[in-house]
Amino acid sequence: MADPNHCNSLSITDNRTGKSYELPIEHGTVRTMDLRQIKESEDDFGLLGYDPSFLNTASCKSQITFIDGEKGILRYRGYPIEQLAEKSSFLETAYLLIKGELPDKERLAVWTYNIRHHTMIHANLTKFMDGFRYDAHPMGILVGTVGALSTFYPDAKNIGDEESRKLQVRRLIGKIPTLAAMSFRHHLGFPYVLPDNDLSYAGNFLSMMFRMTEQKYEPNPVLEKALDVLFILHADHEQNCSTNAVRSVSSSKVDPYSAIAAGCAALYGPLHGGANEAVIRMLEGIGSVDNVSAFIKSVKSGKGRLMGFGHRVYKNYDPRARIIKKIAFEVFEETGRNPLLDIAIELERIALEDDYFIGRKLYPNVDFYSGLIYQAMGFPTDMFPVLFAIGRAPGWLAQWIEHVKDPEQKIARPRQIFLGAPCRDYVPLDERPSRGDDEEKFGICRL
Ligand code: ACO
Repeated sequence: MADPNHCNSLSITDNRTGKSYELPIEHGTVRTMDLRQIKESEDDFGLLGYDPSFLNTASCKSQITFIDGEKGILRYRGYPIEQLAEKSSFLETAYLLIKGELPDKERLAVWTYNIRHHTMIHANLTKFMDGFRYDAHPMGILVGTVGALSTFYPDAKNIGDEESRKLQVRRLIGKIPTLAAMSFRHHLGFPYVLPDNDLSYAGNFLSMMFRMTEQKYEPNPVLEKALDVLFILHADHEQNCSTNAVRSVSSSKVDPYSAIAAGCAALYGPLHGGANEAVIRMLEGIGSVDNVSAFIKSVKSGKGRLMGFGHRVYKNYDPRARIIKKIAFEVFEETGRNPLLDIAIELERIALEDDYFIGRKLYPNVDFYSGLIYQAMGFPTDMFPVLFAIGRAPGWLAQWIEHVKDPEQKIARPRQIFLGAPCRDYVPLDERPSRGDDEEKFGICRL
């Protein structure tokens, strides 16, 4: 029990019993385990916290990413996202996230060399890729093939071994663009392109995506740089849905490929990594600037959401959205203006002046403009969440390492409030009364 005279504590009186308790406050939090001492009677289990979807529960202590959602601040290891986007490269940022400090010249060169020399995949993985249907969603392919990597690298199970962890980090960051590009080529029926280790990380990815018969693919430097910055902007975002999935799955001490496959699966959803794909579909559905007002009206009346707007944490302009908007114009200088851009700008203008969106603190998030850039670069909408996954891989890995090394972490196992049937006796089938015209009775599928 905390010292009652100490001001960093929370006093609670249980009105059921009249008893008072002092819970220590550390880093602005109380430990919900401290609630367990609060009991109605000796055989009572003790008080639990109830927090569906973790709206107000910290699941870990972390030193990786800082977000102030009210002020629109995002920092990786203390460095503002704006500075990293302007001055760093994706691989340098990946190093920072994973190792905690910016590398010196020599370390960066070794790190870059190591990642580049892990871009090849086992030939059997190619056969596995071939097994997907021609129209398989590339994100589904990514979930499957990242998970399959665990069968190629059984040594990855040694999660307690630092050298093994380092190797899996290099392999995963190196191979994820290869798998991503292969999923795209598979869909089109084009032969897979081998990695070109002379190119930058983003340049090599563009080569594996778009190279046709040319001897050497030469990426457009503006698009290469834009893609690199987009990867930086997506590299980590503290305890979001997919990172929470990675941490939760890896808490069972499974290998990192399986845990990161779970992260990819979480990212597949339209409320997370699928949002920029949904933005494009929404903009295409609106069709013209003239229809924007009517669309906003329909959102306000509860018919769907304005995709690319709103965020669980940011209650101000997402700082990544600001950077992305600038990149969009640089990319369109090269590729020509995406005709959906005008609809997006008008949507943003109207929404930012509208009480519905102002009152709910709904601002553009990272996905509002990213899809438009990807589309202008020639990526099909199906590939958008896959691009997000490439960028997010270092963040997932940094969070995985932090989780594995954290002595306070145990297997993730939330509690529940059970509101189901009380104990009752099994009734034999022929003694059960008919339950009427329910779905199961008449829902038998006859093909
Ligand atoms: N359009 C219209 N209304 C919205 C939107 C939106 N995009 N987002 C939230 N709202 C409204 C809700 O209807 C709700 O209104 P109410 O209080 O009248 O019921 C209120 O704002 C609060 O919304 P919640 O769903 O409680 O907010 P939550 O924090 O759970 O959701 C989320 C955050 C999922 C991102 C949500 O804003 C959303 O669905 N946005 C669109 C999808 C999207 O862009 N996702 C990408 C997120 S960024 C990322 O994953 C990288």
